[in-house]
Amino acid sequence: MIVRKPPLGWNSWNTFGRNIDEKLIMETADAMVENGLLDAGYEYLVIDDCWAEMKRDENNRLVPDKNKFPNGMKHVADYVHSKGLKFGMYSCAGNLTCAGYPSSFEYEFIDAETFASWGVDYLKYDYCFKPMYQQGHLLYKRMGLALANCGRDICFSACSWGVDQTNEWIKQTGAHLWRSTGDINDSWQSVKELLMKQDEYLTTNGQGCFNDMDMLIVGMRGKGNVAVAGCTDEEYLTHFAAWAFLGSPLMIGCDIRNMDEATKKILLNKEILAINQDEAYRQPFNCGNHWWATDVKVWARFLEGGDIAIGIFNLSDNGADPFFSFDTLGINRSSGKALEIRDIIEHKTLGVYKDVFRTEYIQPHTCKMYRCKVVDAE
Ligand code: GAL
Repeated sequence: MIVRKPPLGWNSWNTFGRNIDEKLIMETADAMVENGLLDAGYEYLVIDDCWAEMKRDENNRLVPDKNKFPNGMKHVADYVHSKGLKFGMYSCAGNLTCAGYPSSFEYEFIDAETFASWGVDYLKYDYCFKPMYQQGHLLYKRMGLALANCGRDICFSACSWGVDQTNEWIKQTGAHLWRSTGDINDSWQSVKELLMKQDEYLTTNGQGCFNDMDMLIVGMRGKGNVAVAGCTDEEYLTHFAAWAFLGSPLMIGCDIRNMDEATKKILLNKEILAINQDEAYRQPFNCGNHWWATDVKVWARFLEGGDIAIGIFNLSDNGADPFFSFDTLGINRSSGKALEIRDIIEHKTLGVYKDVFRTEYIQPHTCKMYRCKVVDAE
């Protein structure tokens, strides 16, 4: 299986943690369709940790919790598929899952077959309780190979938080996405911390094995399993836009059965999603800065067809008016070329610019995202 674009979907962990069951999953499937999320590309519905009985059955197979999923997982998967969605589940490379449930260590091939028999399309694979003398790369290779041979296409989502130099070996394992950093929580501080670490991963991200910056907190508003203070609408937008820009998988983490309009507007911004889902998926790069401030990020990405995306993220607590010079994008003065710049958050074209573009004043914790067309200079 080759995964050419960052997967988009929903995951139960951020809001629901242990409190998951068949009813929640089915209602969420309905909501993904009714709210237009499926149409916008969010196709995976993923059940995270805490879905299993504490003991395997007599054939060493994992068993869904009988109270939470009384009709078994195939039943849930069938419902999810009937809505046109894909179905995801969770296990772990160690002796127990992170929340202490049975895990796949030494049962990799059996578990891959079980997931395939239930109709699973996506497996998130965690790293807790790894036996100390086992090598992480080998455990992910085991599951990667087991999935590749289970008779069903299953997207393999590695979740070893970037530890043990994951970036050096993860592409050997068959993983289609890999968590490069630790867990997110519902606060601006967490968003900023994760974003400040991304410069070192810009060159390790790429098509076929995407750098997963963790699930989205957009719309959580301080409620749920990883809730802290919550964020403002502007902060949620900056978080979403940055994740999208850097090519992270986008897994919604809020309760989408009860989304407000502001949350929907952020998650359904089609022009931003188009950057995330660009056909070529070229690596982002730094193309500017703001004087001394290292927490004002100016990133660029070449898009398929010749356009250039620019993402400017003011993670600082001060206002900023950063610039980027076209020279850093490959447009030198003698080229005779200019850029027609469109603001894809406000959905309006700003005009044609030459040589340098300086933004207007950008408020703290907010962002700008532009799509630029190379045109002849006047
Ligand atoms: C963490 C993982 C989270 C969530 C949790 C479940 O290790 O990073 O995303 O899956 O385990 O217990």
